[in-house]
Parts: sequence; C-alpha cells; structure tokens
Amino acid sequence: MDRYGNQEYWNRLFLSALPLPKTQIKEWIKSYAAPYKELMAYYKCAMMEVETKFRVLNEELSLEYDRNPIETIKTRLKSVESIGDKLTALNVPITVNSIEQNLHDVAGVRVICGFPSDIYTLADAFLKQDDITLIEKKDYIANPKPNGYRSLHLIVEIPIFLHDEKRPMKVEVQFRTISMDWWASLEHKIRYKKDIKVSTEITEELRECAESAAMLDNKMEQIQKKIGKIR
Ligand code: GTP
Ligand code: MG
Repeated sequence: MDRYGNQEYWNRLFLSALPLPKTQIKEWIKSYAAPYKELMAYYKCAMMEVETKFRVLNEELSLEYDRNPIETIKTRLKSVESIGDKLTALNVPITVNSIEQNLHDVAGVRVICGFPSDIYTLADAFLKQDDITLIEKKDYIANPKPNGYRSLHLIVEIPIFLHDEKRPMKVEVQFRTISMDWWASLEHKIRYKKDIKVSTEITEELRECAESAAMLDNKMEQIQKKIGKIR
C-alpha cells in the first residue's frame, strides 16, 4: 500500500499539523482530507487505465514489429508537497476542487521507447482510441526546448468507471526514447542541485549532449530500418 492509502500517514500529516479542537478536526478531515484521498485514488485509477492501454499496444505491436516498441512504462502521482507548491505558484485556491481544475499533471505516465518513430506510432494509436480526449499536445521532439529537452507531451482525459459513476480524469503522458530519458534525468539532477547555479557554459554543454543523443537516436533508427528491410 502506498502512502496515499496509508491511514497512519494521513493521521500524522493532518492531525499533528492542525492546532484545532477535536470537534473541528473531524469536520476538517471530512471536508479536506477525505476528498483529497479520494481524488488521489481516482488519479491512480486513471494512471492504471492509461498504463494498461500502453501494455496492450506494446503486446499487439510486438507481433507486427517482431520487437517491443516500449522499453519501460513509469507512473507517478504528484506528491502532496508538489501539489501545494504548484497551487501556490499559480496563485489559485488550495482546495481539492482547485487541484482538479488547475493542475493537469497530478497523474503522470512516462512511456520510454526504443526508437523515435515508435513514439509517434504509439501516440497516434493511443489518441485514436474513442475514450481518449486530447486536451493538449506539446511536441518537444519536433521542436526541442532551447536547453535541448526532447519529449512528446500529451495531456489527455480518460474516463474511469466507478461503481456508480463514469468520471473523466486528466493524465499527463510523456513519450521519450531511452536517450531522451537519460538526458532529461541527468539534466534534472544537475539543474536542481540547489547550491550550484548552472552557468551558461554548462547549459550549452548540456544542449550539445542532447543534440548528440538525438543524432545517435536517428542513426540507430536508420540502422534498425536497414535490418528490417533485410529480414
Ligand atoms: P510544469 O508542468 O509546471 O513544469 O509546466 P508546463 O506544463 O508548462 O510544462 P511542460 O509540459 O513543458 O513540462 C512538463 C514536464 O516535462 C515537467 O514537469 C518535466 O517532467 C518535464 N520537463 C519539461 N521541461 C524539461 C526540461 O527542460 N528538463 C527536464 N529534465 N524535464 C523537463
Ligand atoms: Mg505540466
């Protein structure tokens, strides 16, 4: 059971943080903690739905390609601290409703592929499904960020089926190749070292690494295509 389903975690987080009389604590949990926990459970279900869709596509496409287009799928639920920070930065209310209204990336699914073209094959097949609604698409592969970051980002809405209701939930899906993923992970680690201000020289070097990685990705894809023709 993760920490969102752990009652003790909630007790510690909320009860110790609140200097409220006992009677009001009950009310507080009813109006904030319980709905928050419920919303997080819904996001988790939506992530599971999206993950399953990619597992199915991977299985089916592997028959056609004779290899798995997906290397790894990672899922993450935004932490309570990050949710709080983001709502504060956006200057919107710190309420459960506000999370759903203002944040699009509480539920995140990262699909790591072998080759750049696998990304578009998977994204197209996913978006064609009739229960998926595209909210936003950012193609940082066709248009990399100035720092070199590459990835295809989708914000989608997917329904989850509860016992008495069908509820649309937003999920952020990031598609990367293995090399885009290692670059982004290392760049994130370097950039978030709080005591070091990343110089323009280092920024430029990181951008060069991203260019080299993209070049290798394309070269590997060309080799793979040649082999594919021979088979
Ligand atoms: P935020 O979600 O608040 O970051 O803003 P946004 O919605 O405008 O962001 P965007 O869609 O560009 O990026 C969302 C996510 O992509 C981030 O939370 C990161 O996971 C990843 N990302 C975006 N840019 C970078 C980058 O330059 N470096 C790394 N390592 N990750 C990035
Ligand atoms: Mg975002």
